[in-house]
Amino acid sequence: MALEVIVLAAGAGTRMRSQLPKVLHPLGGRPLLAHVLDAAAALAPSHIHVVVGERGDEVKAAFAERGDVSWVPQRPALGTGHAVAQALPAVAEDATALVLLGDAPLIATGTLAAAARAGQEGVAIVTAELADPAGFGRILRRDGEIAGIVEEADASAGQRRIREANAGILAAPRPLLATLIEALAPANAQAELYLTDVVAMAVGQGRRVAGVAAAADEILGVNDRAQLAGLERCYQRRQAAELMAAGVTVMDPARLDVRGSVTAGEDCVIDVGVLFEGEVTLGRGVAIGAGCVIRDANLGDGVQVLPMSCIDGAEVAAGCRIGPFARLRPGTRLAADVHIGNFVETKQAQLDAGAKANHLAYLGDASVGAGSNIGAGAVTCNYDGEAKHRTEIGSRAFVGTNATLVAPLAIGDDAYVGAGSTITDDVAAENLAIGRGRQRNVAGWTPPRRRQTPRRH
Ligand code: UD1
Ligand code: MG
Repeated sequence: MALEVIVLAAGAGTRMRSQLPKVLHPLGGRPLLAHVLDAAAALAPSHIHVVVGERGDEVKAAFAERGDVSWVPQRPALGTGHAVAQALPAVAEDATALVLLGDAPLIATGTLAAAARAGQEGVAIVTAELADPAGFGRILRRDGEIAGIVEEADASAGQRRIREANAGILAAPRPLLATLIEALAPANAQAELYLTDVVAMAVGQGRRVAGVAAAADEILGVNDRAQLAGLERCYQRRQAAELMAAGVTVMDPARLDVRGSVTAGEDCVIDVGVLFEGEVTLGRGVAIGAGCVIRDANLGDGVQVLPMSCIDGAEVAAGCRIGPFARLRPGTRLAADVHIGNFVETKQAQLDAGAKANHLAYLGDASVGAGSNIGAGAVTCNYDGEAKHRTEIGSRAFVGTNATLVAPLAIGDDAYVGAGSTITDDVAAENLAIGRGRQRNVAGWTPPRRRQTPRRH
């Protein structure tokens, strides 16, 4: 039987107090809704319908590249049951409909698959035992069988003590769901059409409602910013657990953030306070020091990144040592065993094997040959106010401390640049270039203030 997914994302999200639609708030760097859509897409349904509300255009725009989703407007948002009613006309008559919530991003595909299977026969819902079920609909059971769902706002004190919570996920054959939804009435505290009411209605018609059990953290939803922060930690702990399972030492799983994806070889060590963004690949035995931010980068085997370094859009080959306090910007390509030290910034820079820039340098639009050494304070002047120019430095070259390299510029193999030089002309291989004022020593120099001092007898 074909499966069609309906994702509810039209609620006003009032409790977020935000200009941004709730389902666009990020979790692990991606919109809440993106996580739900991924979980749904993993079931390979024939359609995914997303119900959007007042700010639906913003939501659609954020997912413009997603061709597997059709958008259903719901204006005004009159409750989750009303939302499903908007989507049902587009669902094939013989399909199983699986309803998901756009604000519950941690749901596992396995749980959804179980719900979809159970929903082929009749109504199925996903539930979980929560230590603190506040805010959730509670599952009412009679003789162990599901009898209904009561929303917290409508629950008696006794019902609020029930810890089995409604995930908000429901599956049923489309014709059955349509009949139940048509009979819904807004008889509740919030004057909304509750999707959850179809459960008691089905039971009233003598149907058994199947319960699919989920883990507690799968069903957590985001209604306010505190819940968003709680879910973020939960999500991040999962990322840390996956890395640890892959053979990575995570010094403190509570102090790691992955906003994107990280693939890591065995025996990497990630110290506290590290943030990964975008697509990051780590080879074997990579060590990342405390407080580093690493985005869209590939780090080869044995790379050491010392504390407080930022790496963005860089390729770093095996054995390199970066930091502390280094900044690699997009277009940086480091061959094996390069050393980039403290307060060194690189951008569109290629450094060949074994090259070193250990302190306080800027290498922008530059290439540095194998084994060359860039001294402290050396700067490539790559911008003339209008255009960027390149600095090409050969192999085994030595650029002295505080050298100012005015691009476009070529410095040959085995060339030397004297400390403090401003270099505006190319330097041929094996040449020493010195471009600075000569030192002049003035003998017998007395500072003016001492010269003026009157002598006493
Ligand atoms: C809902 C469930 C509750 C469940 C909880 C799990 C109902 C009535 N309640 O409560 O039993 O425990 O989720 O998180 O279903 N939405 C629409 N259109 C609307 C209203 C809501 O699309 O008219 C969407 C929202 O954007 C949201 C989802 O449905 O993504 C759930 O709505 P929300 O208001 O967050 O419901 P809860 O109070 O969390
Ligand atoms: Mg909710």
